[in-house]
Amino acid sequence: MEAVMASTHLAILFFSFAAGFVLFSLLLLLLRKRPWCSCRVCRAYLSSSWAADFDNLCDWFAHLLRESPTGTIHVHVLGNTITANPANVEYMLKTRFDNFPKGKPFSAILGDLLGHGIFNVDGDEWRFQRKMASLALGSVAVRSYASGIVAEEINRCLLPLFSSASVDGDFLDLQDVFRRFAFETICRISFGLDRGCLELSMSMAQFAAAFDTASLLSARRGTAATPIIWKLKRLLNVGSEKELKKAIGLINTLAEEVIRQRRKLGYASSHDLLSRFMASMENDDKYLRDIVISFLLAGRDAVSSGITTFFLLLSRHPRVAARMREEIAAVTKGGAAAGEEGVASYEQLKEMHYVHAAIYESMRLFPPVQFDSKFCVEDDVLPDGTFVSQNTRVTYHPYAMGRMESIWGADCSEFKPERWLRGGEFAMESLFKYPVFQAGQRVCLGKEMALVEMKTVIVAVVGQFDFELVDGGRPVKFVPGLTATIGGGVRARVRRAAPRLPPC
Ligand code: HEM
Repeated sequence: MEAVMASTHLAILFFSFAAGFVLFSLLLLLLRKRPWCSCRVCRAYLSSSWAADFDNLCDWFAHLLRESPTGTIHVHVLGNTITANPANVEYMLKTRFDNFPKGKPFSAILGDLLGHGIFNVDGDEWRFQRKMASLALGSVAVRSYASGIVAEEINRCLLPLFSSASVDGDFLDLQDVFRRFAFETICRISFGLDRGCLELSMSMAQFAAAFDTASLLSARRGTAATPIIWKLKRLLNVGSEKELKKAIGLINTLAEEVIRQRRKLGYASSHDLLSRFMASMENDDKYLRDIVISFLLAGRDAVSSGITTFFLLLSRHPRVAARMREEIAAVTKGGAAAGEEGVASYEQLKEMHYVHAAIYESMRLFPPVQFDSKFCVEDDVLPDGTFVSQNTRVTYHPYAMGRMESIWGADCSEFKPERWLRGGEFAMESLFKYPVFQAGQRVCLGKEMALVEMKTVIVAVVGQFDFELVDGGRPVKFVPGLTATIGGGVRARVRRAAPRLPPC
């Protein structure tokens, strides 16, 4: 009897302690986040009244950041400090890197989709994956393997599609076309497999749609004022969380099949990224799944977003298109591309400084990753004097940074590739002013590969086609997601461009 009483007391004690702990944590969370805050910014955020004046949340944030003397603002209800100040960005991403990791709350938001993939981990786990990935992505063999695949896909899919659309007068959704292209390309670069190798019960389009859903719903978790709601919905498996679970289930099926086929075909002498990871962690399927998903997301969504917004801007700036064509004609001697399968070679691409500048300029205005958040480990003070308390979120905002007069001058909202040229040659700016690929210790590992892929596609397409956008002047409205996606797509009519002669 006494034993029963003792264990009952122990259970009550334990329960009281646990309940006290939960209440205390909730109190701390509330104090930190101030969900009752009624300041101008928080009121506008909670009531969505900002939408009366701005097309996108990122445009409103850009406006607030421009107004702020320090280039930094607080959204109290989100517990988020948002900055567009390059000195703060350098401090977070380089000087005090260890004090601004991704952090647990971020890992929780993306954990179901990204698992322990490189985008979602810190510390030793991140260091290990970074080393592996940088060895793979930095290797000359992998880079030239990737360039060959990009050239093949351009010739096999992209150019024939635009060619037949130009003859038939069809409208195409450029966003959809470039997404499919980037998906196919990254599958081959990352896993050395194409559609035909995979034994799947569903089409690639269905898997691509599952990626879109998972990206959208995961991003939505991050914009909620409190995680309690989505965590509860996940526990009960209802609503958006049920949908997210289903999408992730589909993505897992694809990842498992990719790993199975790669194992079946052998990986010892393959140049794709998965084979390189498999050589050192052959049997850890869970880890391999997370790596597969991370590379798919990085390679598909960011690259296709960058190419899509590039063509959106180009169709509004025929002067830039004309200058690009002049440069392409001059370098390729009127169309004699010297690379694999008739696309421009790496050496030719390197000579195209104006094209390079135009690509940087378009991602300045439309960065594929519009913002990126970190969590502050210990109380800190940013270089502009902003105090950041421990366990709160700090976000740097490349989209807003591209629109800051204090960084780019009075013409910051204009699309002007010339701002990147000195004496006709491309001149790089500090990555802390332009953190489109992040900067510092976690700078994007696929940057060079992505730029070569984008440039190869852009040169091949601009050299031959013109796009006339349907409703080209309409404001750009983004849908929520981990990378910038334009609501309603980018519909265009394709025309063959007039042939250009090289300058005498
Ligand atoms: C235009 C295209 C791209 C852009 C704008 C871009 C941008 C970024 C950004 C902003 C990050 C930091 C994300 C974060 O920490 O949350 C990142 C990280 C990364 N990117 Fe990219 N990316 C692009 C293409 C690629 C491609 C094609 C690959 C690989 C095939 C790639 C591989 C990676 C990897 C592995 C990381 C993680 C680095 C780390 O955490 O240490 N990226 N990228």
